[in-house]
Amino acid sequence: MAEVDLLRSLPQGRRNVQARETAKTDEHIRISREYGEMYFDGPREYGYGGYRYDGRWRPVARDIVEHFGLKPGDKVLDVGCAKGFLVKDLVAVGIDAYGIDVSKYALMNCEPEIIGRLQIGSCDDLPFPDRSFDAVLAINTIHNLDRAGCVRAVREIERLAPGKGFIQVDSYRTPEQKAIFESWVLTARFHDYPDGWLKVFDEAGYTGDWYWTIIG
Ligand SMILES: C[S@@+](CC[C@H](N)C(=O)[O-])C[C@H]1O[C@@H](n2cnc3c(N)ncnc32)[C@H](O)[C@@H]1O
Repeated sequence: MAEVDLLRSLPQGRRNVQARETAKTDEHIRISREYGEMYFDGPREYGYGGYRYDGRWRPVARDIVEHFGLKPGDKVLDVGCAKGFLVKDLVAVGIDAYGIDVSKYALMNCEPEIIGRLQIGSCDDLPFPDRSFDAVLAINTIHNLDRAGCVRAVREIERLAPGKGFIQVDSYRTPEQKAIFESWVLTARFHDYPDGWLKVFDEAGYTGDWYWTIIG
């Protein structure tokens, strides 16, 4: 188990979403949690403000291959794959990659090369046999469930690829970072300091790797 920044090659602006320009309301939260067009491709107040492929995940895919020592043909699952950008870039380097996500909108607007590799489902109930992947990734996804759901999701990731998981979640290291995060967050139902997350991982019997998305 190790803390490892597998997203280190992403441009900072992509990871540390800037503070929303307008104050968020319960309606923004409700709509963003539908993970529909508004969340991905609607105005910034509802989520991404436009979620389009631009190749920025290519170096991340290479770092993932190197980190897990993956060989061509190895199977990788991206949990919370959205439109499948990372799946596409993993396939491009020879990995047999698949994705799962709750968003029908994202899957219906996925990258054309990976049609047939993505399916609908929730991270806390993954419809695959034990040990069926060589690595399982869940980047900025499981925190969208409550704490009990996060424990279930981490258990599922461990079940599919024991010791070969990578989970990145919303976190903060200081009260100031926590305040910035809380003013920005739309979809996450559970978030905590790293110690709190490590307890979740421990409760789930997780033996894979992890990292934090920290704003500010
Ligand atoms: C912040 S986006 C991250 C997308 C992608 N992993 C990335 O890093 O660009 C969160 C994704 O999690 C998906 N999601 C939300 N709840 C989920 C759940 N319970 N199971 C699987 N995916 C979920 C959303 O539809 C969305 O695609």
